Amino acid sequence: MARSLLALASALPAVMALNNGLALTPQMGWNTWNRFGCGIDEDLIVGSAKALVSNNLTALGYNYVLIDDCWHADSRDPDTGAPVENKDKFPNGIKGVADQIHDLGLKVGIYSSAGTYTCGGKFGSLGFEEIDAKTYASWGIDYLKYDNCYNEGRAGTPPVSYERYNNMSRALNETGRPILYSMCNWGEDGPWNFAVDIANSWRISGDIYDNFDRYDVRCPCTDMLDCKLPGFHCAVTRILDFSAPLGQKAGRGHWNDLDMLEVGNGGMTFDEYVTHFSMWALVKSPLILGNDVTDMSDDTKTIITNDAIIAVNQDPNGSPATRVWKRSLPDGGDLQLWSGSLVNNQFVFAVLNTGTSNHTEDISLIDVFTDQGKSFGSGTFTLFDLWQKDDSGKWGKNIGDFQGKVSVTVGAHQTKVYRATPASGAKRAVDEL
Ligand code: GAL
Repeated sequence: MARSLLALASALPAVMALNNGLALTPQMGWNTWNRFGCGIDEDLIVGSAKALVSNNLTALGYNYVLIDDCWHADSRDPDTGAPVENKDKFPNGIKGVADQIHDLGLKVGIYSSAGTYTCGGKFGSLGFEEIDAKTYASWGIDYLKYDNCYNEGRAGTPPVSYERYNNMSRALNETGRPILYSMCNWGEDGPWNFAVDIANSWRISGDIYDNFDRYDVRCPCTDMLDCKLPGFHCAVTRILDFSAPLGQKAGRGHWNDLDMLEVGNGGMTFDEYVTHFSMWALVKSPLILGNDVTDMSDDTKTIITNDAIIAVNQDPNGSPATRVWKRSLPDGGDLQLWSGSLVNNQFVFAVLNTGTSNHTEDISLIDVFTDQGKSFGSGTFTLFDLWQKDDSGKWGKNIGDFQGKVSVTVGAHQTKVYRATPASGAKRAVDEL
């Protein structure tokens, strides 16, 4: 008996994810908050769901339509305590919206907070987990984003935060409906350590804002591993820094959430949005659009429809890329090398320049393949530039075979992303390992 238990234990993955079978690859979709804040209603949400379909975004995987804060009535049902929606904004109820979204073949999400109020000052779910989860299930909800405002001080140590978030995790499971559970406690108490088996994803930082690298005192931490005030107004490069050590904690069914995308909201340049989208994809953050999908520029469409980058994010291995190094540049920025592995002996790496001028660097393939070993990294690799199209118009242009190094030129705030596949020399090398 003891032996068979041991055998069973060793057959299990080292880390158990929330057992709801969801988010085996990072969730993708669209959320109301970054662009619309509290200004939401049925027309906006159903119209956006239709736009996801008509722009072929659903075919690329953007399947969750997420209603964020401010869908609520002023108070709960006074008799039952059940949550109630704002009937002016949602005349057919959240259920009516959910039905229309389901009819389009999409899934629908809602938002609440593990506190007495949501961050927008609506009623929260603390102490109401069961009735809220049941009501969401009865409305046909497929996804819950669960925030951290007004938590009455029930945070500060991992067990205290765990208890509060596990109450909703259990309540969702008890409904019997598969509901993706997206924790949003801004990295407080290190959810990457305590939430792996209770949630499908957890935010790792304070709120993103539509800026590449501006320091803002309201996002005061320099290191999320020791952060007491996650704050908000966190720029893209800052969130990426926070995420760098955390990839090791994510995997199939349980992801680091770097926050929703700002692509298309106007605060960054094309290259900056390419960096934002690419890096979120490489570290396996959920890819949740935060722009107005009913009114998009060609540049925005170009970025969010790059299926080669999306394929990296959705790779079945679910292995987040890691930062290999970060080197200071003369202009005050830095150059970063990130690399990760994909299924079928494929690899991805990115070179990111946070500086303000062009930079050319010989990237060592031994560095790229640090995790695979020197022998493997000394092989020959065919590289595909995932932000260039090939002759047939597909993302991912073959730029040739390389051994030892590849010279990469990266513009200001730009990221180059490459998929690497071993050419024959490297295949021999991996056999030798
Ligand atoms: C924040 C959260 C945002 C948004 C907002 C709604 O705490 O991080 O993504 O949901 O609350 O009030």
